[in-house]
Formats: sequence, C-alpha cells, structure tokens
Amino acid sequence: MLKASPNLTFVMWRLGARRIVVTANPENLEHMLKTNFPNYPKGKPFTDILGDFLGRGILSADGDLWHMQRKLASHEFSARSLREFVVNVLEREVSERLLPILSSACADRRVVDMQDLLRRFAFDTVCKISFGTDPGLLDPSLPESALAGAFEVASAISAKRGAAPVYVVWKAKRALGVGSERQLRAAVKLIHAYIMEVIRRRKATLENGIQHKDLLSRLITGGHEDEVIRDMVISFVMAGRDTTSAALTWFLWLVSSHPEVEAELSMRLYPPVVWDSKHAVSDDVLPDGTRIRGGDRVTYFPYGMGGWRGSGGRTASSSITGGGCRVRESPFKFPVFQAGPRICLGKEMAFLKMKYIAAAVLREFSLRRVEGERQKPTLVPMLTAHMAGGLQMVVERRK
Ligand code: HEM
Repeated sequence: MLKASPNLTFVMWRLGARRIVVTANPENLEHMLKTNFPNYPKGKPFTDILGDFLGRGILSADGDLWHMQRKLASHEFSARSLREFVVNVLEREVSERLLPILSSACADRRVVDMQDLLRRFAFDTVCKISFGTDPGLLDPSLPESALAGAFEVASAISAKRGAAPVYVVWKAKRALGVGSERQLRAAVKLIHAYIMEVIRRRKATLENGIQHKDLLSRLITGGHEDEVIRDMVISFVMAGRDTTSAALTWFLWLVSSHPEVEAELSMRLYPPVVWDSKHAVSDDVLPDGTRIRGGDRVTYFPYGMGGWRGSGGRTASSSITGGGCRVRESPFKFPVFQAGPRICLGKEMAFLKMKYIAAAVLREFSLRRVEGERQKPTLVPMLTAHMAGGLQMVVERRK
C-alpha cells in the first residue's frame, strides 16, 4: 500500500478502532520525530499496552518523566568507562562461551540455530551491562534462567496486546486476573523481585566501597529511587536484548547468501525494529498534506523504507553503502534507530557489539545455511524482526 501511494503514506480506517496513519515519507518522519516532536509522544495507548511491564522506564515514558530519564541515561551512556566495561563483557562472553560453542558444533558437524544462539548471547551481555549479573544462557552447566523466561513471557504477551484488534478482551482478562494476563502479572512480579533484590545487595556492596561498572550501580550511586532504577534497567534490557541479535541474524543470513558482497552489507534491508508508532496529541498537517487528528496513531515503517526502489529509481537509503564507501545519510531516510530527540540511546553500543561479534565469529568460522533451506526466510514482525523457524547453520572453520 505504501508503494502504491505517491506520497509514501496511507490512512487506515477500521470500524471501532482509532485511525492509523502509516508513513515511509522522510519529510513526514522529520516532522513527527523532530520538528513537531511534542505533538507525537508514544501516548497513552502505548503506555496501556506496555506500562504493566515497562513501568516508568524510558521506553514507555513521555513528557517530563521521559525527559528526566533521557538526561540521566544519556549521561551514563556517554561515559568512556561504560564503553570499556561493555568491551570487557563482550570479550569474555565471546571468547569463553560463543566461540567454544561454535568450535564444538564445527567439530561435531552439528547444525546450530544462530538466531537462538545470538538471542542467548544478547540476553547474557545486556544483563551483565545493565545490572551486573550473569544469567548464563550460553552456559549449559548453569540451570535455566527464570529471569530470561519471565522477560520472554512478558514481552510476548505485551506484544500480543498491541496486535489485538480490540483491547477490551485483554483488559477484561487483566481485570479478572486470568489466562495470559495472569501469566504476565506473574512474569512481571518475578522480574521486579529479581531486580529489587539485586538493588538491595548492590547497595550493600557499594557501601562497603566495592566498585561496579554496570548501569544499575551507576544509577544507585546517582541517588535515584529504587523503583525508578528498576524500571530503567528493565527498559535497557528490553531495548538491547532482541535488537542486536535480530540485526546479526539477518546479517548472517545475508552474508551466507551473498559472500561476494560481504563487504558492502548494512542493516538497511532488515531493520530490527520493523515499525514504530506515536500518538498525535492534537490536529496537525504532515509536510505531504496528510491531515492528522488528535488521537491518531502515526506509524513509520523502516522496513519499507530500506527495501524497495522509490520513484527516483534508488532505495530510500541507498547512499549508505555505495560502492563500499559509507556516506552519512539523513536519519529520517534511514530511521533504523529512530531519529530526532528520542533517537536510540544504545546506537553506538549496538554497533560496537555487532561489529565485535561479527568480526570475532567470521574471522574464525564460515557459516553456511543448511543445504536445501534455500528459500527466503519469513520475517515475523514482533517487537523486533524475528526470523520464523530460526536460522539453522552449519559451522565450518575458515581455511
Ligand atoms: C541494532 C540494535 C538496535 C536497534 C536497531 C535499536 C533501535 C531503537 C529504536 C527504533 C528506538 C526507538 C523506540 C521508540 O522510541 O519507539 C530505540 C530506543 C532506545 N534504545 Fe535502541 N536499538 C538497538 C540497540 C540498543 C542497545 C544495545 C541499547 C542499550 C541498552 C539500546 C537502548 C535504547 C534506549 C535506552 C532507547 C530509548 C530512547 C528514548 O526513548 O529516549 N538500544 N532503539
């Protein structure tokens, strides 16, 4: 529908549901994400869906609450010591866990689901960076992590809420405390209890003068309330968990499809966050003339913007990697990390992680898709771009 529209924008009407404006027009993106930013918060419908899980964390906050957290988190994310800490965490997780797993798969000629492996890797590292504990999802000698299971359940049920055509069903289930809503409540309770316990113990060790470099310890040292710290680290885990692993899964799939253009690949074709929405506060007109009414959902679509050839005969973001050289493109044409005042805070960290992992893995191993699985994978646009059925690969040592 976007392709068929001359201004890369269409309006969706459904009986009894709010109007949804879907756009892939860079001028409209700049307008909603920057020029008229205050008119396009995430909005109450978003908080309704994710608020039980994300609480007052940065991913679901708006207005003053968001602004306060953004300032706080930008300060922490820009610290050079955090970058050093991230590299240390990556080094250990790659050399002690990821590479040995690939080595043994290579020796046993065992097929590996790289999507699953990368998701486990991402969860381990994001937990170490966010609150300094190790769920050990890549360590078979450790028991299954209840925390990882709870994050999985809470994000899947919250995503299902968002995809439901009418909200009365899940709202009624929540009011009655039954079914999936009961599972969600139990998962959130477990996550809260786990993180509050980490906060309690960390405070004690910090008082004894022991230094920690993770985000949670930095927030405790900053003197913030326990609940705020808890919700902030939940947002960090959610923001950093499936995004980097989705990017790397699609990247490995592309590399194995086109080894000859390996050097030119980017995230343009498979952005990990496929679409993203805001809710208009009041009436407005987008630069292409689309009329917005207060309450409308306005959705932009990075997946659509990366993949097709626009009217000019080039992809919306083709100049990112032209002939192997990198050209800085407007973030409104390449909104993989969003753009404007709310642009992803972990962008640098994500690139650091992905380059580190891609280089460490591809320097030693060559990954080939399982023979016979030549068809294009199916993208499941959950909260992040999931690959249906995983990415089954054969690991060979690079000659
Ligand atoms: C390839 C990997 C990643 C991609 C594609 C990505 C993409 C995005 C996008 C699209 C948003 C905007 C969401 C919205 O406002 O609706 C966002 C926000 C955010 N991201 Fe990332 N992200 C990635 C990795 C990370 C990592 C590793 C972290 C670190 C923990 C992180 C931290 C954040 C935070 C804290 C926000 C909220 C910013 C705010 O609301 O002001 N991200 N990211």
